[in-house]
Amino acid sequence: MHADLDRVLIEAPAIAQRVAELARQVLDEWKDAPGGTPEITPVPLMTGSFIFAADLIRHMPQMMQIQLMSVSSYPGTATTSQGVHIDRRKSNVPDDLTGRHVLVIDDILDSGSTLRAVTEDLRSRNPEAIKTCVLLRKQRPEAMAFPVDHVAFDIPDEFVVGYGLDYNGYYRNLPDIGVLSEKAIEAHRL
Ligand code: IMP
Ligand code: MG
Repeated sequence: MHADLDRVLIEAPAIAQRVAELARQVLDEWKDAPGGTPEITPVPLMTGSFIFAADLIRHMPQMMQIQLMSVSSYPGTATTSQGVHIDRRKSNVPDDLTGRHVLVIDDILDSGSTLRAVTEDLRSRNPEAIKTCVLLRKQRPEAMAFPVDHVAFDIPDEFVVGYGLDYNGYYRNLPDIGVLSEKAIEAHRL
């Protein structure tokens, strides 16, 4: 898989260190809530955030119920967003989130349309609070202007794979995050 990368952007040990730190930041922010740290309900967006979410929540040693939401915007070999689709059959988020403190977890903030659609959907379920955290944010104006509570890494505006992020379903199991080569992108389109 590494042979298909133009270059590695972030290596696994650096990811692990930053994810641990981010978990502390998320908890710190919530510890000032009235009555102390509330019970947090993580909502990882499938499929891209599954590895990030799995690592992040294991640095949060408290009782929690994890609710998955399945979202797609880059079907197959698309490298730009094709419109956001929330797949309700593959989501287990309760219709009623009254009193819950939701933490939306996504892999990458690009155009912002995924997080916009998801937070709008979650808000309609009446939670007490919604916070958002993303592993990566692309340095492009739409992403930098989008309101998000926690970002692990800002990266150049290029198509990246690894640590959960895919191209045509591949490369999610790559432990590092890297820029996919044009040659590899073209090869899948044939
Ligand atoms: P947005 O809705 O445009 O912000 O894009 C967010 C979603 O698009 C992410 O959850 C990813 O699934 C996908 N995505 C955006 N950029 C990349 C990338 O560089 N590599 C892989 N997936 C990406
Ligand atoms: Mg995704």
